[in-house]
Amino acid sequence: MNSPDPGETAPQGTVTQPGHKKPHNASSVENATTTENRGEAVWVEDLVVDYRRGRSTFRALHGVSLSIGPGECVGLVGESGSGKSTLGKAILGLCPVTSGSIRIGGRDTTRARGAARRRLAADVQVVFQDPYGSLDPAMTVGQAVAEPLRAAGADREATRAAVAEMLDRVRLPADAATRYPGEFSGGQRQRIAIARALVRRPRLIICDEPVSALDLTTQAVVVDLLVDIQRETGVAYLFISHDLGVVRRICHRVSVMYGGRIVESGANGTITRSPAHPYTQRLLLASPVADPDRQAERRRAWLRLRNRDESSTT
Ligand SMILES: Nc1ncnc2c1ncn2[C@@H]1O[C@H](COP(=O)(O)OP(=O)(O)O)[C@@H](O)[C@H]1O
Ligand SMILES: [Mg+2]
Repeated sequence: MNSPDPGETAPQGTVTQPGHKKPHNASSVENATTTENRGEAVWVEDLVVDYRRGRSTFRALHGVSLSIGPGECVGLVGESGSGKSTLGKAILGLCPVTSGSIRIGGRDTTRARGAARRRLAADVQVVFQDPYGSLDPAMTVGQAVAEPLRAAGADREATRAAVAEMLDRVRLPADAATRYPGEFSGGQRQRIAIARALVRRPRLIICDEPVSALDLTTQAVVVDLLVDIQRETGVAYLFISHDLGVVRRICHRVSVMYGGRIVESGANGTITRSPAHPYTQRLLLASPVADPDRQAERRRAWLRLRNRDESSTT
């Protein structure tokens, strides 16, 4: 396994540890000085997002703070509906922000429009969960990977060279460019989606459950590829997943989201092996392991925790 193998201590690489280290109050912004955040791939401070639901509003994010350094992978875990994708969308500029701020590479993009919005599109890319829905079946793989560059006005020759380089980077054969997505497996399609995300050399890729739809073996291959690409290019990842097991393989640091708040954050080794917050402990025990005996023991531990929590809240 070619993962960063993050232990209890700092991750490998040259990554500096940004602020927001307080384990139980990650929404605190005490550490968020303006001088600290210049070089971060992304710096999110006290972000509030409300969705309109008819006449009422629903608060999906309640003051979330998070930062990712250059070349760093930060995991965002939490159950379905906890607000993970909303944070990703807010960083991508795809949902309205009520308050708080987002900086990409030191630039405030919270309410980016026009040229600033187009720059944001180059700096932050996304890979979604669904390998079947995310590529246009009528476009060749070459056209799909080239599209972000063509939209940015790159010439034909530069585009062709960049597509060849990206396909090579995601370990697909050069002739993949002339074929259609329908000819590829789910794992290969995620590689195509990754090539497309990389082609404008972004600072940050939001990986929103990028391997959740794949079988376990393919998951490992795609995760290894993401790790290699990060080493080769220095791109940062926000790696969103409901599965702590996957996050453990790839992330340097991990933040845990629950009900629109970050309830715990810290080094991968700490959060994915000995979390302090009861919610994270439950997530950890819910994440599957290969060994059936260990799985049964974890299931019993999970039930004990759940029963204890239920009796303490009733
Ligand atoms: N466009 C929307 N309009 C209204 N509510 C939304 C919208 N998108 C998401 N939500 C709600 O916001 C909450 C967080 O959703 P989401 O960020 O997709 O969670 P996650 O990615 O962790 O599953 C959920 O309760 C969801 O129903
Ligand atoms: Mg989601």
